[in-house]
Amino acid sequence: MQRGQVDLSRCAAGQGEQRMTGTVITVTSGKGGVGKTTTTANLCAALTQLGQRVVAVDADVGLRNLDLVMGLENRIVFDSIDVAEGRCTLQQALVRDPRAEFLYMLPAAQTRDKTEITPEQMCAICKQLVNIADYVLIDSPAGIEHGFTTAIAPADRVLIVTTSDVSALRDADKVIYLLERDWHRQPGLVINRFNQRLVSSGEMRGIDDVLDILAIDLMGVVPEDERLMLSTDRGTPAAFDRRMYVRRAYENIARRVMGNNVPLTDYYRPGFLGWLARLFGR
Ligand SMILES: Nc1ncnc2c1ncn2[C@@H]1O[C@H](COP(=O)(O)OP(=O)(O)OP(=O)(O)O)[C@@H](O)[C@H]1O
Ligand SMILES: [Mg+2]
Repeated sequence: MQRGQVDLSRCAAGQGEQRMTGTVITVTSGKGGVGKTTTTANLCAALTQLGQRVVAVDADVGLRNLDLVMGLENRIVFDSIDVAEGRCTLQQALVRDPRAEFLYMLPAAQTRDKTEITPEQMCAICKQLVNIADYVLIDSPAGIEHGFTTAIAPADRVLIVTTSDVSALRDADKVIYLLERDWHRQPGLVINRFNQRLVSSGEMRGIDDVLDILAIDLMGVVPEDERLMLSTDRGTPAAFDRRMYVRRAYENIARRVMGNNVPLTDYYRPGFLGWLARLFGR
């Protein structure tokens, strides 16, 4: 086995005596561009820093980005379609993140179509991954078509990422409806690009308004932070960067995902402490 590769030998399908341990979480939204990939990458980084074994799966076939946001694009040799079609093993396709104790990424194919990996193939891949990871996070493509179905099929849990603008909320609402009707899943919500200043001036919906519309459990709020784009350009998820204040938001979501009771207070409530934290965090 080459250095940096993960030992998947104990994951062979059909070994009935092996207990599946990991949880598959799909990050989806409906609307494009609201922050699914950014959330997936940073949540993976936050979870791994909390001692969890994590695999990130890019399910956005044809438009992959997760490798860029995680800064792993130069390490890619194979992708999930190569695995599904038997050109390589899952072990060979997994890309290791050298910054973390146990963080791997399974890339999507860049030159293929979303229909070329089936929900069954994605389930088979995840079935192996949960044997080596505590969390498998799937970055879903936008929309509610085949790529969405493929990303949702193996999910134990689903996170909906939305911004608070009306089109993102309408699409999120549609996805929540489909998840409940067709998949019997109650997703959790991440509100992204939140800006308290705009809420205070009446230019942006507040958290309570968003929750009134979508009526699902809030898993966290990620503030608007223009430096996230720079961290993407650098290929360093903010959750790995101690200078980034937004890192705290991802850490809190990760803790909630792990079942810890983390109060939803600091990032959106006005008040002196929140103001002080923002001031010194930056
Ligand atoms: N909290 C945030 N603050 C500022 N910028 C953000 C934030 N979250 C995401 N962005 C920026 O928004 C853009 C879109 O993010 P991202 O690629 O994660 O969205 P997506 O939902 O995965 O898009 P797609 O549907 O195309 O896959 C990126 O430039 C990213 O840096
Ligand atoms: Mg994306």
